[in-house]
Order: sequence, then C-alpha cells, then structure tokens
Amino acid sequence: MNSRRRSALITTAVLGASVVLFSQAAAFASQPAHPGPVVPPDSLRALAAPVGLRIGTAVNTDLLASNPAYTKILNSQFSSVTPENVMKWESVEPTQGTYNWAPADALVASAKANGQLVRGHTLVWHNQLPQWLTQEASSLSADQLRAILKKHITDEVTHFKGKIWQWDVVNEAFNDDGTLRNSIWLQKLGSGYIADAFRWAHAADPKAKLFYNDYNIEFTGPKSNAVYALVSQLKAQGVPIDGVGFQTHLDTQYGLPDLENNLQRFAKLGLNVAETEVDMRTTLPVTSLEQNAQVAGYTTTLQACLAVKQCISYTVWGFGDAYSWVPGVFAGEGAADIYDENLQPKPEYTTLQQTLALATGAPHRTDGHDSGDRH
Ligand code: XIL
Repeated sequence: MNSRRRSALITTAVLGASVVLFSQAAAFASQPAHPGPVVPPDSLRALAAPVGLRIGTAVNTDLLASNPAYTKILNSQFSSVTPENVMKWESVEPTQGTYNWAPADALVASAKANGQLVRGHTLVWHNQLPQWLTQEASSLSADQLRAILKKHITDEVTHFKGKIWQWDVVNEAFNDDGTLRNSIWLQKLGSGYIADAFRWAHAADPKAKLFYNDYNIEFTGPKSNAVYALVSQLKAQGVPIDGVGFQTHLDTQYGLPDLENNLQRFAKLGLNVAETEVDMRTTLPVTSLEQNAQVAGYTTTLQACLAVKQCISYTVWGFGDAYSWVPGVFAGEGAADIYDENLQPKPEYTTLQQTLALATGAPHRTDGHDSGDRH
C-alpha cells in the first residue's frame, strides 16, 4: 500500500490509528541513543521522529536549573531547544570584552545529554543589545561598528562551534511594510550588514545551518515578499544562507496565515524553513471560541510544517503559560502556550500530539539529524 493511501486510511480511523501509531513510536523510542530520560512513545518528540521532524521549545534557563517539573517536560517532550535569552548579545557580553557563556553552556550541555539539537538565537538584532553598545553606537564610525559586529559574531559562533544545529544569524531586519528596519545596523552599515553577518558566521562554523528569522512573514504580504526578495538575492550572490525561520507568534484576533504557501515558496529557493517561535495568544479570560481558535492555530501551523519536506523544526516559544513572554508584552493577552499555568497539558498540546500521530504519510525530512529517539 502506498503511503498516501495508508495515510488516507489512517485518517478515517483516527482513534484506532493513534493507538497503532503510538505503539510504532514506542518501538522507535524504547532505546534512546542518548543517556537522558526515557522518551514516552506518545511524547511530541517521539511522535515526530518517524518523519525526521524536530519539535523544539524556547528554554528559560533559570527554570532549567530550578524547576524539576519544567525540566521533566522539557526533556521528555522536545528534541530541540532554543535559549530564550541567554545567547543574546546583552547576555553574553554585558561588559565589553567580558563574556558570560555559562548559562548558554549549561543549556548546550543539557541538550547534549538529552538528545536535543540546539537552535542558536540570535546574533544580529536591534533588541537586547548591551548598554555599552547602544550608548556608544552613535559616536562610532561605520568601520568601528562593523568591526564590533564582526567580532561579536565570530567570537560567539566560534565559542559554540560544532554544537549549534541552526543559528538565527539575523533577526527581525524588516518592518511590516517591507522596508528595512531603521536599526543601528542599517543606519551605520547600510543593508550590506546582512550578507556580512552570514559570511562571518559561516567562516566561524561552516557546518551550522544559518537562518534569517522574522515574525509576521507567515502571512503573504509586503513583509514576507520583502524577505523573499532579500533571501533570493542572497542566494543569487552566493551568500551562505541555509534557511528562513518563521517565528509564528499568532493572535486569535488576526486569524490564521497561509503559512504552508509561504513555507513552500521559500523552500523552492533551495532553503530549509522552520517555525521557530510558535505561540497563539488571545485576550484574557479565554472564551471557548477563542480556545478553539488557539487549537486550530497549533494544528494548522504544525500541519503546514509537516506538509513541506524542507521544514526541519517546529519550535514553540516556551511551553507553559506561567512563563510565557506574552502577558508582559501584549496587555490583556496570554494563554498562548500548550501547557497551562500549572504545567498541565492543554488541548493545544493534545492537538499537536494527534497531528503528529496522523502524519506518517508526511514526507521524511533528512536535515534534522537522525533523532536518537528512533533507535
Ligand atoms: C523575548 C523573550 O521571550 C523575553 O523573555 C525577552 O524579555 C524578550 O525577548 N522575537 C524573538 C525573541 O526573536 O527573541 C523574543 O523573545 C520574542 C520575539
């Protein structure tokens, strides 16, 4: 029976099929190739392994050190991790010339012990820059600022060389109208800073996959078109870019994007794609209509990734509502994650599980490094 036919049959027998699929995954998961926790066969990471997809989360490293319930979910459910803050410039170099690698090193070590790949986040951004840099920037010449950026990228990528699967090299360089963001980088260095950043990162770790990452490019429109034009140009010029990250911070009030279409057209440029920061916020308190929309958001974003062979990871931006960045940034909104305030799984979690369980007909991706969970 071909796989398309098989998956059609599976879809018609959801419940029975899930049981079968869970037990198939159990065979894959029974002997993890890493010394970490036993991976439950119905976990997100085990269910995604047969199609070569990595399921990731942003990690709050304070909780990793202090909260066993958080850490248990992290390591049993996810096969990729992204530091939520500790690889950002203000965190790694709070004082010029003095590096603070310890929190990120601890996450990288934990990932290795638990069979997880690391998404490095992020090298060039306009936010979370150290104060010494933002204060000094206006008095620096273009050459001085370029040298500082080159040193930052070279030092950080070199420090983690061989340990990072995907790097978010440049983050959020565009405005929603498709013009380039007026950051210190654009002001002083012009748009060439983007290509330079990729070249410097590649020189420091030729094996890491280098990504451009942004939000609101899930919807086709001026911003995703501008990013498409940029990455097409970078590819044409031979700049070492390997992928585009779609942050996928969604909000029930704005509806769902035509994400599969966008992932597909970027993939056709010869790039990997990834969903890098998925969450689905809504106004509080959550009505049942809103929660249905949130569940639909998680379902369709994961389905979009599964449908596109070049989509190598699906990463949620944290997994517990109690620790989400959303309430602090979007007034009156929250409940954006797949576990509730008490780290109990929500329907948003269950739909990811179910969607993966039904995805055996999805194309197998080969760029995800074979997961230890499959042996
Ligand atoms: C956010 C973190 O979640 C917060 O803890 C921090 O205070 C601010 O940054 N896009 C990104 C992420 O690329 O780095 C941001 O993370 C969320 C939006």
